[in-house]
Amino acid sequence: MAEFFVEFRNDHRFVLRTLIDLRKAVEARDFTSARQLVEALDTAAGPHMGFEERYLYPSLIPLLGEERVKSLISDHQGAAEMLFKAKQVLSKETVTDEDVEFLQEFVRAFLQHASDCEGTALLAEALSQEQIERFGEQLVALRSTGKPLTVYKGVATS
Ligand SMILES: [Fe+2]
Repeated sequence: MAEFFVEFRNDHRFVLRTLIDLRKAVEARDFTSARQLVEALDTAAGPHMGFEERYLYPSLIPLLGEERVKSLISDHQGAAEMLFKAKQVLSKETVTDEDVEFLQEFVRAFLQHASDCEGTALLAEALSQEQIERFGEQLVALRSTGKPLTVYKGVATS
């Protein structure tokens, strides 16, 4: 049985490591690695954020309020749009200094999401054991059926 907290926090750790590697790759102007890292981020973040929007956040409404939950979900839209732009920037023949600046800003913004989201793991500890067990199954199931974030949020078509 999937242990929800382990799986959920491991996703955040994966995002953290990927972003730190991305920052280094961008600094070193290693855009081949940067491209692969952004791709990995897109693939991992889609199922994770899909899980949050469908299952985790609705169950946190009594604790966080509807407004806060809405703002967490709209942060996902912003993250997907930035991720899409990062992919576009990295697919260009020449990556400019301005692009590099954008990529660094993207890393900071995405780190903020991972950090905010780690806080929802603490709140989830207030939910019932049955609910948490279901979360574990739902999160793992979405990894095989979920789409990349840019596709899930409708900013990319494939
Ligand atoms: Fe998260």
